[in-house]
Amino acid sequence: MTAVQSRVLRQGGPALRFDAPVLPDGARADIPVIANLFGTRHRVAAGLGIAPEGIAELGEFLAALRAPAPVEGMRDALSRWPMLRAALATRPRLLRRAPVQQEVSEAPDLGVFPVQTCWPGDAGPLITWPVVLTRARGSAPDSAVQYNAGVYRAQVIARDRVILRWLPHRGGAAHQRSWGSEPMPVAVALGADPALLLSAALPLPETVSELTFSGVLRGSRADLTPARSIPMLVPARAEIVLEGWIHPGETAPEGPFGDHTGYYNPAEPFPVMRVTAITHRTTPLYLSTHTGRPPDEPSVIGAVFNDLVLPVIRQQIPEIRDLWLPPAACSYRIAVASIDKRYPGQARRVMMALWGMLAQFSYTKMLIVTDADIDVRNWEDIAWALATRMDPARDVMILDHTPMDYLDFASPLEGLAGKIGIDATAKIGSETTRDWGQKMALSPEAEAFAEELLGGLQAPTGAR
Ligand SMILES: Cc1cc2nc3c(=O)[nH]c(=O)nc-3n(C[C@H](O)[C@H](O)[C@H](O)COP(=O)(O)O)c2cc1C
Repeated sequence: MTAVQSRVLRQGGPALRFDAPVLPDGARADIPVIANLFGTRHRVAAGLGIAPEGIAELGEFLAALRAPAPVEGMRDALSRWPMLRAALATRPRLLRRAPVQQEVSEAPDLGVFPVQTCWPGDAGPLITWPVVLTRARGSAPDSAVQYNAGVYRAQVIARDRVILRWLPHRGGAAHQRSWGSEPMPVAVALGADPALLLSAALPLPETVSELTFSGVLRGSRADLTPARSIPMLVPARAEIVLEGWIHPGETAPEGPFGDHTGYYNPAEPFPVMRVTAITHRTTPLYLSTHTGRPPDEPSVIGAVFNDLVLPVIRQQIPEIRDLWLPPAACSYRIAVASIDKRYPGQARRVMMALWGMLAQFSYTKMLIVTDADIDVRNWEDIAWALATRMDPARDVMILDHTPMDYLDFASPLEGLAGKIGIDATAKIGSETTRDWGQKMALSPEAEAFAEELLGGLQAPTGAR
């Protein structure tokens, strides 16, 4: 399934349905697997409830939500999106009869689900698209707006046990810390609807509930229903829900698993969830994906998130014209920004601002800054800027002992690494003592003449 999805994704192909997948014991599962759901930019946008052209505007709305602007400015910004704002104020709706509870099993057996083992060196079956719901200790079980929803992969280790791999800075991990020495209820929705899947994967501001935000994207409120064995509400229209508890201090080694870097992660301890009930639709579908060297499905989603987050970045660093996190560089390890350059040293200021701004950029080990005439989404343009506007001895800034994710085995110390900033902008003022080159371009008239003369002309086949 990994090989098939990988090829179809590279070709921009459709979502996939695998009927009768083979289980580890050789038997065929009754439950089909869906993969490559978000394999194209178009389908990610559709999951956000918009056309690809609407991505920038949704980004503006997200920026307005984050803005630490004075109240007047904020009010003004939000008045531009009255519908979305109204949707954010609505609460989830409670369903009495939930499709996800058509079948309820209080003797859970994860073995009947076709959980994918994605890579040859993987430790075992891995739930790759779970929406993990948690709440803080002391919060009311029916106050779903206070829930956190995150996508954290889950390794199946027994019929009723999974390991939840939330990294320490994630919402789920923060909730777990709040429960201290008490067991913590957890719900995992499999095959949640696209709006909830993407809301859970988006880095939303802490003050925005993912469940409510999914309603904004979907255009209707989130439907929830009380869980059967834990004090929580769960997505009523998911395909499958796992309910259970995390007991204090109970961990197990998670991994190794193939990750988005293109390498296997080493095994690390993460909390174990004891599954107390599994509920599902009568004929559920199981949603899967895999993470691997880009392009993979998360990297397609990441490219859309890049554009959604751009207005937030521009709000804080207004001279940034465009910013691109190339999916091929694991979606965050390299960034290229173009700026409206006005004063000497500006490219370095932008680098430091970016590294210090959003948590995601602390793991960006190479930053290239160009002028606004360079298309930062085009490696040919970037290469030309580097080749003509950059001097390695003058225009490279190297930092040492800065934060890095532990997945980066190339850094000499775990969690600490260097960073490189490359200033590929044209040098101005005291940045250079030499005459700078003059960029060549033909006149618009000449270009128009050529266009008219050659318009529609195809190179004859066999032309040399
Ligand atoms: C397919 C997929 C798999 C992911 N796996 C993990 C994971 O295993 N652990 C993790 O901490 N984040 C993972 N993420 C990223 C988080 O879901 C994402 O950062 C999310 O915004 C976290 O939500 P939170 O800020 O509420 O914790 C994954 C994202 C996707 C799309």
